[in-house]
Amino acid sequence: MPEFIDPNQFIISRKRKKYRFARFHNNPLCFELYEWSARPVDYIEIGAGNGMFAVEQAAGAPERSFVAVDVKGDRLQIGAHAAVARGLTNVYFVRARADQIAELVPGHSVGAMWLNFSDPYPKKRSAGRRLTHPYFLNRYAQVLRPGGSLYIKHDNPQFFSWSLEQLVASHWSLKELSFDLHDSPLDVSYKIMTAYEQKWLAQGLPTQFVHATINT
Ligand SMILES: C[S@@+](CC[C@H](N)C(=O)[O-])C[C@H]1O[C@@H](n2cnc3c(N)ncnc32)[C@H](O)[C@@H]1O
Repeated sequence: MPEFIDPNQFIISRKRKKYRFARFHNNPLCFELYEWSARPVDYIEIGAGNGMFAVEQAAGAPERSFVAVDVKGDRLQIGAHAAVARGLTNVYFVRARADQIAELVPGHSVGAMWLNFSDPYPKKRSAGRRLTHPYFLNRYAQVLRPGGSLYIKHDNPQFFSWSLEQLVASHWSLKELSFDLHDSPLDVSYKIMTAYEQKWLAQGLPTQFVHATINT
């Protein structure tokens, strides 16, 4: 278990952020990448933000293991504290980048991956940073089990249609697709809302959803 960290050890000028970083480091479910030992998990969410989607998924499926990954530990600690408060032991929070996914899990061991409301990076020159760029899709294919699933939710039509094009061009099969998830008959577990999803739905932006599998 990581040792207790004094918030004052962090060289961060804003006090509130310093406090949130300490909460990340002191939570038994939170790991820096170097503290995490690679292991098979059932579900990974990349760019998980506050991690509450993973917490709800984990609460609904106690027999499965979940990992919420984000570069921002001060966001992840919110879900981690909710998970501890609810007594969950099947969800972890790892501070890492999407391109480091092969260091998190053994090859072809993950049942499903979620990308929820990834940063759209609308400028053409930033397309390489989108989490649905073929660079990332190839890395996801390396860690998913044969027949494993990639689930994507997004509010932004341009990002979503670009992502569908990348999936098809990278030889993924589209198994389920909806341009308004919450008005569709698709599985209720997909409809658990993330923080960004709540925000965009409140502004009238429907959730677009795709479930894809990699052709092996
Ligand atoms: C728009 S927020 C969405 C958060 C959450 N999925 C939700 O729906 O509420 C995007 C998140 O992706 C994270 N992120 C962006 N690029 C990343 C990368 N390369 N690896 C890991 N996380 C990343 C950001 O830190 C941010 O928390």
